Amino acid sequence: MLPRGVNPAEAGLIIANGGIAAFPTETVYGLGGDATNPDAVSRIYSAKGRPGDNPLILHIANPGDFEKLANSPPQYAWDLINAFWPGPLTVVANKKPELLPWLGAHPSRTANTIGIRMPSHPMALEVIRASGCFVAAPSANKAGTPSPTKVEHVVTDFSDGSIDYVLDGGPVEVGVESTVVDVTGPVPVILRPGAVTSEMIAEVAGIPGQARDDGMSAPRAPGMKYRHYAPKAPMTLIVGNQTDIAEYISAKTTGQKIGILANINISGAICLPLGQTPEIIARNLYANLRHFDILEVDIIYAQAPAEDGLGLAIMDRMKKAAEGRVIHV
Ligand code: TXA
Ligand code: MG
Repeated sequence: MLPRGVNPAEAGLIIANGGIAAFPTETVYGLGGDATNPDAVSRIYSAKGRPGDNPLILHIANPGDFEKLANSPPQYAWDLINAFWPGPLTVVANKKPELLPWLGAHPSRTANTIGIRMPSHPMALEVIRASGCFVAAPSANKAGTPSPTKVEHVVTDFSDGSIDYVLDGGPVEVGVESTVVDVTGPVPVILRPGAVTSEMIAEVAGIPGQARDDGMSAPRAPGMKYRHYAPKAPMTLIVGNQTDIAEYISAKTTGQKIGILANINISGAICLPLGQTPEIIARNLYANLRHFDILEVDIIYAQAPAEDGLGLAIMDRMKKAAEGRVIHV
């Protein structure tokens, strides 16, 4: 049983006392602990089953706290903060040298940079304020599963006693994780696309540079290299117009239980609507993927949305959920 409530002060107190409390943000639910407490940080890693080389982001309730963590951030980092905080933007900055070397990372690791985010969800802000901490919070899912966008998803993943509490804030608004932007160089570099789009960043801070993952050096956002967001059944992402997609899937109907995430209906299959706008697609994406798990489908076909603006973040998550199985019709 996972204790559950609606009082942010309760979650904040648990975090202040070294416990782990899940709480809603506008993007996805987070798994919060005191970032300066090595035991709490270790518990976050073990509860999630998260690899130790994948750092955590720190959540703050006051933009001024950025200054306590980031070492000489460039002006454009402040411009981004002023434009998009509170909101779905994580800023990866050089870390102040006097901070705990592992702050934002696993206690056995060191990192020179730190990811920082000020969420806009009022309950998240209340939790952070009530805790009095820098709140380390990855998404509140087991590593590899879709991020939680409803309290039920947190309950499904953490009824094993590995965390202390979940704060129920209802379904989230955005549905995909924050944009992660690296501000350690001369221009911003987007490490993970999100609701703050590259166009929005370009307008405020100049054209973002290219994130380079050459496969040789460590990836810039370690989390991006792991299997992610995946439903249990194998998923194939289909790019094309609706008629061609419907034709392709209809030809596939065998004896299997087929799940379809698309704005089409095919008899004999379980069809969940993808949604008509990027905002609606993003908000419902992970709940739809998790719903296929509950329905125990054998195979999933999903329609690819347009890949611009927020669609870029949606496609990033859908491609990972499909583990690279993308076909064009
Ligand atoms: O919307 C969100 O960002 C949610 C909510 C709860 O705030 N949090 C979230 O955390 O998605 P997480 O840990 O699941 O994803 C954070 C991403 C990972 O890909 C991680 O590798 C990257 O940010 N990251 C964190 N610190 C970093 C750093 N110092 N350098 C590069 N990448 C970093
Ligand atoms: Mg995550």
